[in-house]
Amino acid sequence: MFQSTAYSGQKEKDYQLLVKQVDALSEGEHDHTAILANASALLNQFLTDVNWVGFYVWKEDELVLGPFQGLPACIRIGYGKGVCGTAIKEKATQRIADVHAFPGHIACDGATNSEIVVPIILNETIYGVLDIDSPNSDRFDEVDQTYLEQFVHVLEKHLAG
Ligand code: SME
Repeated sequence: MFQSTAYSGQKEKDYQLLVKQVDALSEGEHDHTAILANASALLNQFLTDVNWVGFYVWKEDELVLGPFQGLPACIRIGYGKGVCGTAIKEKATQRIADVHAFPGHIACDGATNSEIVVPIILNETIYGVLDIDSPNSDRFDEVDQTYLEQFVHVLEKHLAG
């Protein structure tokens, strides 16, 4: 049984625990939907001030909505479109302090003001993205980016396995 974790409030220490948790939760599992569903739930109970957290998976030349927590969202996003499609095109994390200033941002939840998207790459091939939205402006800093990228690297290990 998984219980909500009492995190310490020390950001880096808590993120280090989170990365261990997603590794343990995914251990021995090969079903991608199960791995991503648990990862989205884990992040949702860890992160404060977020209104959407989840995955898009690359299928037939576009991103398709995967497991997530939050309001229903747009289902398909093209290569280079929005923040998610840009992360895929550039194969680089997009940390957007103000989504309203991002050309082509796709608004799924009108409450969103900032967003971070981390690409998921397996053996140099696009797999999908982790997308997290916040109603706060400039919610995600460099520490968030560092550890969310570590979180994704752990997922990549399990998705490739
Ligand atoms: N804002 C994203 C679309 C996905 S939703 O935020 C869940 C984008 O611009 O790609």
